[in-house]
Amino acid sequence: MQQHWLKRWEEGRIGFHRDSVHPALVRHWPLLGATPGTKVLVPLCGKSLDMRWLAEHQHPVLGIELAEAALAQFVEEGPGEVSRYQQDGFSIQRQGSIELWCGDFFHFHIAQAAEIGAFYDRAALIALPEATRQRYAFHLAQLIPPGARGLLVSLRRDGEDGPPYNVSYEEIRRLFDPNFIVTHLEDGEREDNGFQESVWALVRRGPVTDEPAQHR
Ligand SMILES: C[S@@+](CC[C@H](N)C(=O)[O-])C[C@H]1O[C@@H](n2cnc3c(N)ncnc32)[C@H](O)[C@@H]1O
Repeated sequence: MQQHWLKRWEEGRIGFHRDSVHPALVRHWPLLGATPGTKVLVPLCGKSLDMRWLAEHQHPVLGIELAEAALAQFVEEGPGEVSRYQQDGFSIQRQGSIELWCGDFFHFHIAQAAEIGAFYDRAALIALPEATRQRYAFHLAQLIPPGARGLLVSLRRDGEDGPPYNVSYEEIRRLFDPNFIVTHLEDGEREDNGFQESVWALVRRGPVTDEPAQHR
């Protein structure tokens, strides 16, 4: 699956990339209750402009992305000097208050996540096949401290599956309920291609568990 993404970046097949900030971020982030100054984790970040919006709203950002090309394009297309360094097996670029870690999200561990207090997932969960989504939800819970908040922009789709994958509401609750308070905020319009986004607020509960949620 990693080869799939690297190849897509290499060939410029990045239809998922938006040329503008996602409206759900603008609409819902201010209501989420993440205080300015809180560092936001953006898993599977691509070269999303949403990271610039978060930085402009006083949030240091830590994006993680497999494809070097995505991060190179992000900093090239943005303003400001870039510093580069290596840490714990990741190549990191910093531009202003945005840090971009190049590598596998599943290799990013709690010791590196010390300052993180919020997260933003747009098209990260839905980029992963079903078995990996379970791992993703658990890994995210390990990185996020109790009380921390996040916004999730997920997707349901008709017809052939992924990526992007069809993620049902039941699955979102099953994946995240054990470790997060999950609130469905809104659904986007159903597009002509059968894609429909949904937006969720997640608040991290107490100690991490991988027990499935009961009675859902
Ligand atoms: C559908 S794109 C979404 C990118 C971005 N969130 C956005 O909204 O434009 C998924 C991204 O995840 C990256 N990716 C896939 N698996 C990954 C992994 N295990 N670790 C880090 N990045 C990964 C891909 O290279 C791709 O850029």
